Amino acid sequence: MSSSSPPPDDGEGEGSDGNAGGKSLSYGEAEYWDARYVEEGGAPYDWYQRYDALRPFVRRFVPPASRLLMIGCGSALMSEDMVSDGYVEIVNIDISSVVIEMMRKKYFDIPQLQYLRVDVRDMSMFPDESFDCAIDKGTLDSLMCGVDAPLSAAQMVLEVDRLIRPGGVFILQDLGSLER
Ligand SMILES: C[S@@+](CC[C@H](N)C(=O)[O-])C[C@H]1O[C@@H](n2cnc3c(N)ncnc32)[C@H](O)[C@@H]1O
Repeated sequence: MSSSSPPPDDGEGEGSDGNAGGKSLSYGEAEYWDARYVEEGGAPYDWYQRYDALRPFVRRFVPPASRLLMIGCGSALMSEDMVSDGYVEIVNIDISSVVIEMMRKKYFDIPQLQYLRVDVRDMSMFPDESFDCAIDKGTLDSLMCGVDAPLSAAQMVLEVDRLIRPGGVFILQDLGSLER
């Protein structure tokens, strides 16, 4: 699997490629992601694009001194690459406790990186306007595959809006079309 390929299409229908005990799971379910990260054994994987491709855009809008929220971080190298590029504080969240534990162990000696198990639809643990920037690469797409997709998407966007300071930046990379 290349590090920039879109979600795998395995012929099981959009947004669903997992099966746990006969129960079909989708990209919108925490159980799907937990099972997937166990299966991948902690191997890094960046959805869509790596940081080097996004760097010109990110550097243009996000100063390295920013306090940054990485939404649905997964096992991506994006945050590590951003620290190597001078970013000083990246709070990474994901709904999968499995990947958060793996990433904590992997990056225990990089103080610029924090990993927290948080559902993007309820980020009440963070105060209002506590971030300069939020980045999402692929998490909104995942929510759109789950049950109550429109509600989940609205909750996510409202929470991100609450957390970014006035004048802050939200960078969203997804596979959606303008018609969606
Ligand atoms: C398509 S992957 C993208 C991972 C990473 N951002 C990247 O670019 O490679 C979507 C990620 O969103 C996480 N996720 C799904 N639903 C979530 C939710 N409600 N709250 C937080 N993270 C969620 C999944 O566990 C998964 O790691």
